[in-house]
Amino acid sequence: MTTSPSILIVDDEGHIRKILSIMLGKRGYRCRLAASGQEALAILGQEEFDAVLTDLKMPGLDGLELLARIKGENPEQIVIMLTAFATVDTALSAMKAGAYDYLSKPFKEEEIVLVLEKALERGRLIDENRLLKRQIKERFDISSFLGQSPAMQKVFDLIAKVAETRATVLITGESGTGKELAARSIHQNGPRRERPFVPVNCGAIPPNLMESEFFGHVKGAFTGADQAKKGLVAESDGGTLFLDEVAELPLDMQVKFLRVLQEEEVRRVGELNARKVDLRVLAATNKDLRGEIEAGRFREDLFYRLNVISLRMPPLRERPDDIPMLASLFLKQAVDKNRLNPKKMTAASMRLLMEQKWSGNVRALRNVIEQVAVMSEGEIIGPEDFPFARPAPAVSGPAAAPDAICLPGPEKGADLKAAVKAAAEAVERQIIERVLKEHNGNKTHAAEALGLSRRALITKAQHYGLD
Ligand SMILES: Nc1ncnc2c1ncn2[C@@H]1O[C@H](COP(=O)(O)OP(=O)(O)OP(=O)(O)O)[C@@H](O)[C@H]1O
Ligand SMILES: [Mg+2]
Repeated sequence: MTTSPSILIVDDEGHIRKILSIMLGKRGYRCRLAASGQEALAILGQEEFDAVLTDLKMPGLDGLELLARIKGENPEQIVIMLTAFATVDTALSAMKAGAYDYLSKPFKEEEIVLVLEKALERGRLIDENRLLKRQIKERFDISSFLGQSPAMQKVFDLIAKVAETRATVLITGESGTGKELAARSIHQNGPRRERPFVPVNCGAIPPNLMESEFFGHVKGAFTGADQAKKGLVAESDGGTLFLDEVAELPLDMQVKFLRVLQEEEVRRVGELNARKVDLRVLAATNKDLRGEIEAGRFREDLFYRLNVISLRMPPLRERPDDIPMLASLFLKQAVDKNRLNPKKMTAASMRLLMEQKWSGNVRALRNVIEQVAVMSEGEIIGPEDFPFARPAPAVSGPAAAPDAICLPGPEKGADLKAAVKAAAEAVERQIIERVLKEHNGNKTHAAEALGLSRRALITKAQHYGLD
């Protein structure tokens, strides 16, 4: 934050306002003056200040009442009290009501500046801390946004292009395709990265609370509003508001949102004046918004306002080439997260993963890998460790040649199930024997070729007496 700090000075005595503003002005503070508590509140409704410096004794709304009103609106506002009648009592009540500090008149210039600087420093630290926490979380997510397929390369190109702009982007795609990750990455790669990224799941807010959640409210705006609230729109001021599941916005909220987007200002519930906001909006949905428009559930005007740029996240089955790198990333993350010994997937496992339909897309892949990482034994993860119905190992690989298989006839008296089992075992034995021979008895290589873990191969080889 390089701009000079802004201070609101409140005092009913003109000469005190003047002295303070000259004193602070020459040190680079931007000052606004208010002659009464009421005037101060009106100004605060329009503008934000780094600190408020207020007299205690004033006709009308006095300093303590003003303090209570300010804290009700914005609990984090820094307020410093000035008083000619500094009794322990008033000082105590001011501090209890949330004043940052108090100074008694006549005040020394040095003293005021010192207290102000300390207060502002604390405000900056709080902001910075909040931002850092957010950034750490985001960097972690973004650094692992992967994809080598042409389809994902196109996505990355578009993200790089739109990140620089303020254009609204509508991100579509099936569940689990990475829509939120794309939104975070647009924010993180653009000029707003130092400001908040505020994700909102539009389907998760009860309709009766929506307006106040989004736009904020003043204290006492409705029953239960015992503290003022900024609202999600104001919280993303200067940053990015991400409207996730945007199709779930009720129609009346769609109208209100459109107005906020067009006018670039919000009005808190219970407040008369609107406040300016500098927003960038990203939205995502897995619904077909055009269909929703036709069904009368989504407003066409809002759709066009959101869909300035459209970004479609391709389903995973359209880009199987991305699966190996994603699977390796997720395996490594699962191993780290669960403090497991390092694990590896066989080529056959990768092939198996690439053959799946993945209707739950990347999220489903991540879940399966984590599950298998935890459940599998040993350091090699083979196809048999995965919970899908899989083609018999004989179908792929050199052992598949049908001429190698000769089925034993069912023994007399054996039931069908037992016969099939015996046949399958005979086939399996032949394949294992042959592949082991092909790899000169090297179990690691044979296991790899068969898509088995080394350990599973050894067990089977022992079972068939091939050792
Ligand atoms: N290309 C990718 N690289 C790495 N991880 C990814 C990728 N795409 C998605 N993921 C991961 O998959 C999971 C789902 O991603 P995300 O939440 O962004 O999907 P979504 O499209 O918003 O899903 P939904 O529609 O269910 O909300 C997350 O854990 C995310 O980190
Ligand atoms: Mg999502």
